[in-house]
Amino acid sequence: MSSTTVPNCDVADINLASQGKTRIEWAAREMPVLDLIMKRFSEERPLEGVRLVACCHVTTETANLARALKAGGADAVLIASNPLSTQDDVAAALVAEYGIPVYAKKGEDVDTYNRHVRIALDHRPQIIVDDGCDVVATLIKERQEQLAEVFGTTEETTTGIQRLRAMIKSGVIQFPVIGVNDAETKHFFDNRYGTGQSTLDGVVRATNILLAGKVVVVVGYGWCGKGVAMRARGMGANVVVTEIDPIKAVEAVMDGFRVMPIAQAAPIGDIFITVTGNRHVIDVQHFEKMKDGAMVCNSGHFDLELNLTGLAEISKDRRPLRRFVEEYELKSNGHRVIVLGEGRLVNLAAAEGHPASVMDMSFANQALSVEYLVKNKGKLSAGLHNLPKEVDVEIASLKLDAMGVKLDTLTPEMVEYINSWEHGT
Ligand code: ADE
Repeated sequence: MSSTTVPNCDVADINLASQGKTRIEWAAREMPVLDLIMKRFSEERPLEGVRLVACCHVTTETANLARALKAGGADAVLIASNPLSTQDDVAAALVAEYGIPVYAKKGEDVDTYNRHVRIALDHRPQIIVDDGCDVVATLIKERQEQLAEVFGTTEETTTGIQRLRAMIKSGVIQFPVIGVNDAETKHFFDNRYGTGQSTLDGVVRATNILLAGKVVVVVGYGWCGKGVAMRARGMGANVVVTEIDPIKAVEAVMDGFRVMPIAQAAPIGDIFITVTGNRHVIDVQHFEKMKDGAMVCNSGHFDLELNLTGLAEISKDRRPLRRFVEEYELKSNGHRVIVLGEGRLVNLAAAEGHPASVMDMSFANQALSVEYLVKNKGKLSAGLHNLPKEVDVEIASLKLDAMGVKLDTLTPEMVEYINSWEHGT
């Protein structure tokens, strides 16, 4: 262990720190854009003394974001954004090797999760990096007296932004929020390629099943659903998509997938994966129709996409089969429905979340959003903002440089053409 002073924390086992550090360094190799930002931050210190709370999945990738924020001078505290997604060795390393206070334990109960949110708010954050909007929601519900201290917040997920829009509509947001998920270098890549790969990784690590030949039902065809469907097809699965949005449904059809209502998909699916951001999209009437041995899991932010309370009520028996695999036996027909990762994000519960290479761009957006909020303190209106488009382009350009990919540039003749209207037939 290094000589860093160990701050206050609530982690599972501080002795895991050295293993965590090696894994954090391994992830850093795939995060060149964030690394450039971290180097600049340590020279310029744009976040000097800013009290910051980050509520994120405590992974090797998040650890590198936390290091970058600290290098910029932030006085940062990290808590988990999901009770099952924490990597305990990473939490230990952040505390013992990097001197960053962490309150997160894999498998913590909901009371502990909420207690950690309140401890984080006791830090009196001026900036909040949120993932799912739990810290911001608690701040507004319980800490009105702290609102004036907040420069702004950032939000990582589609679900969190949906929640923020509802908050803005009810008039409770009094500070600027950067919707990191809305950046193109975030959702085009993280949601699609990150969720696509890591969700199947979670299913396979939990079960060791073969995907080839299976009917995989993807519930929701947003950016995450597109990624899951694409990668499941790549593994040889026969993919069915369910949707409520006509445009997304047409897109899924033209991408070559069968589209049908969940009621129709329920009896034919082998594996169901929810990625909608909505509640009970698979409900008891669907569980009742499933084949014996059908598997269900969720890769949306919250654990309410599957109605697991309802499933428990219609079941006569329930038993764990493997880590993150639980079998429910239905009263009506004796069929067994297998639930993965307790209905929580299967990619983070049973695997390690999105790989570092894609989180590099997401967290470059986060780090630059924090800097933007600090630089523009007091100047931005309350409500949702995007990072300027140039920042998105800069992140993409740095990523391409790191991958050794070169681009073409417009010739003067091309510039003249796209800026004129006179040329035609
Ligand atoms: N969300 C999805 N994957 C993640 C990861 N690896 N780290 C942090 N947040 C994530």
